[in-house]
Amino acid sequence: GELTERSLQIIRDLKHLEGPMLPILHAIQAEFGYVPEEVKPVIASELNLSRAEVHGVVTFYHEFRDHPAGRHVLKLCRAEACQSMGSDRIADHARQLLGIDFHQTTLDGAVTLEPVYCLGLCACAPAAMLDGEVLGRVDEHCLSEIVAGLSR
Ligand code: FES
Repeated sequence: GELTERSLQIIRDLKHLEGPMLPILHAIQAEFGYVPEEVKPVIASELNLSRAEVHGVVTFYHEFRDHPAGRHVLKLCRAEACQSMGSDRIADHARQLLGIDFHQTTLDGAVTLEPVYCLGLCACAPAAMLDGEVLGRVDEHCLSEIVAGLSR
């Protein structure tokens, strides 16, 4: 179908690169908003890899999604500096407010919750990113306000 054709174009544009897998996956996600399951075998055959190898790479890197994201994407930093500043509590609060776990999207399609591993904002831990904008010193109160704003 159209998805496969568009994917093939993207893959063939990039497969000559050294280490083409990540650039291809990034381009696929930029195009579709996620890495569709049906694209994995196409990548595999173009790069002479097994499906399992492609699947392994997609799941290893947390930035690749396997489903379309919601209208907003809230990423919470799960790396060390943020953890030492209470990011686990923030994550629990976010799960509870949204009623979803990481890698899920709220039923109304408003918010996708994703983990991220260091946003380079360790000095302002715990850090988060909302639709590409970084937020520092996130606490429960500010998280509640953010989430309330998103669900409208
Ligand atoms: Fe969270 Fe660096 S560890 S921003």
